[in-house]
Amino acid sequence: MGWIVTIDGPAASGKSTVSRELAKRMGWNWVSTGAFYRGLAFVALQKNIQFDDIDALLALSHSDEWSVKMSDDKTCVYFNDTDVTDMIFREDVGNFASKISHYPEVRKSLLDHQRACSLGGAGLVAEGRDCGTVVFPNAHAKIYLTADQTHRAARRAAEEGGSAENIMASQQQRDQQDSTRKVAPLQVPEQAFVLDTTHLSLTDVMEKVEKFIRVKIPV
Ligand code: DC
Repeated sequence: MGWIVTIDGPAASGKSTVSRELAKRMGWNWVSTGAFYRGLAFVALQKNIQFDDIDALLALSHSDEWSVKMSDDKTCVYFNDTDVTDMIFREDVGNFASKISHYPEVRKSLLDHQRACSLGGAGLVAEGRDCGTVVFPNAHAKIYLTADQTHRAARRAAEEGGSAENIMASQQQRDQQDSTRKVAPLQVPEQAFVLDTTHLSLTDVMEKVEKFIRVKIPV
């Protein structure tokens, strides 16, 4: 197993962009663990499975009808061998993902697949909600990114289109769900480097993140 860096934080806090860029600079693999929840949510929605039908969700999580694969710029989701990655970022899929992520059984069923991403390669940057606390508690360096709510909604609206007000309402609901759930809630991991990205450019964020990483990981 190589080096592991985790980046956690709320919706649209910049985790994906920053973690992807960091992995590129280090020459490591990158995974967005949200893709596992979004992938399961997307497939469940396609099959009209209700968010509280745990048995059906568990069966689906172990099914080989869908899979997650890492690449340099996307964590891809395949459904029956079709790449559905572009469809998992819809806000309705994100919301369904957030709802099913409350169930410990669902979380557990995805955990081994997430951890397997650290096998092979010189290192891994993993981003999500519980990467530093649950998925990789022994990571060599942990980062927690945050940004103010209005800024995060505007950021997602610019990326995905749609009204910033609607996105903000949906993100607020999702943040509330993610940080108050009983199992693996969104929280700052111990010893994490906490960075508020609201008033920082990507260049500034990367500079601070890389400085922190280079101290922790002398490669
Ligand atoms: O990071 P994201 O927006 O793609 O994640 C979508 C949802 O998946 C998020 O609202 C909660 C869930 N999730 C989680 O519970 N744990 C993770 N490590 C990643 C995502």
